[in-house]
Amino acid sequence: MKFFIDTANLAMIEEANALGVLDGVTTNPSLMAKEGISGKEDILNHYLSICEIVDGDVSAEVLGVTYEEMITEGEELAALNPQIVVKVPVTKDGIRAIRYFSEKGIKTNCTLVFSAGQALLAAKAGATYVSPFLGRLDDVSTDGLHLIEEIRTIYDNYGYETQILAASVRHSMHIINCAKLGADVVTCPLQPILSLLKHPLTDSGLEQFIKDSEKMKH
Ligand code: G3P
Repeated sequence: MKFFIDTANLAMIEEANALGVLDGVTTNPSLMAKEGISGKEDILNHYLSICEIVDGDVSAEVLGVTYEEMITEGEELAALNPQIVVKVPVTKDGIRAIRYFSEKGIKTNCTLVFSAGQALLAAKAGATYVSPFLGRLDDVSTDGLHLIEEIRTIYDNYGYETQILAASVRHSMHIINCAKLGADVVTCPLQPILSLLKHPLTDSGLEQFIKDSEKMKH
């Protein structure tokens, strides 16, 4: 399973990359705005900075909502660097745009996916990735993990190559359950990834080993 970091914060991307287990980055307009990025030049330069840090796919979301806007923006983003994946919302225009990009060999990430039907259309349009938002489904008392399971079944039934990129992942159990269900990728902030390391028996065991190591030094 691939690990992507879901942030536009360069320091966090560097920290995650230094762990040695990072496979890529996802961003969205909210995450970019949070970093104070504004204006076309600033946006494009920021994506270039992210591509310099990581060796993997970097999702850059289109801001336009019409087919024409998505095509213009997406082509510009894709031309920046081969690592760029054009992130497109799962709307009627978005699905058309994904088909267009797919035929041109431009990688896409179909985002804001909350149902199996949307994921099916994304795969049929040729999306490279599909992003079901599992945490946001949990937020409205709907089982986000069940959606991952449904999409996995549908894609396996027909051999769709679209990768399931579990997004809106909030904690370490989301990551573990996504791995059990066969998601291809999880994207989340750094903290849930670091939480995978946590175990009190590791802490107490290490404490004891350190104490005993001291004894051996004398
Ligand atoms: O990038 C999309 C998704 O991962 C956002 O997550 O936590 O804002 O629901 P969240």
